[in-house]
Amino acid sequence: MKIRVIHGPNLNLLGTREPSIYGADSLQDINLRIDHHARSLGIHVQIDQYNCEGDIIDAIHACKDTFDAIVINPGAYTHYSIAIRDAVAGIGIPTIEVHLSNIHAREEFRRTSVIAPVCAGQISGFGDDVYILGLNAAKLLLEK
Ligand code: DQA
Repeated sequence: MKIRVIHGPNLNLLGTREPSIYGADSLQDINLRIDHHARSLGIHVQIDQYNCEGDIIDAIHACKDTFDAIVINPGAYTHYSIAIRDAVAGIGIPTIEVHLSNIHAREEFRRTSVIAPVCAGQISGFGDDVYILGLNAAKLLLEK
């Protein structure tokens, strides 16, 4: 089972970026946790972070025929990137959208995801556990 984890814009700043919202762990800390959990599940995982929309789209396209599922935190693109939505819909690989913060309890503009409707589901608000939950959800989905 091969799962691609994609972190979107500004997530490279985790640890110092608004820690009261996003927590104190750095992206490197989170990636170590993801990697460790994936190993314990026997999943091969590839993790990348991109700030640019086009890079995220290219990464999603590259998953076709090479990965079984995607766990993605699209960051602010969540709320308006029809292009990322179309990429997810276009490759037909189960995709799970995750957010560290509970986007539904935040500003009005964050409460809408244009990407979630083409995803298998959305996990939001459990801090960096969302990546662990995302891997679990992907595995359960793929084993069905
Ligand atoms: C986020 C929520 C988004 O609204 C925000 O723009 C982010 C992070 C989250 O993980 O909670 O960059 O995706």
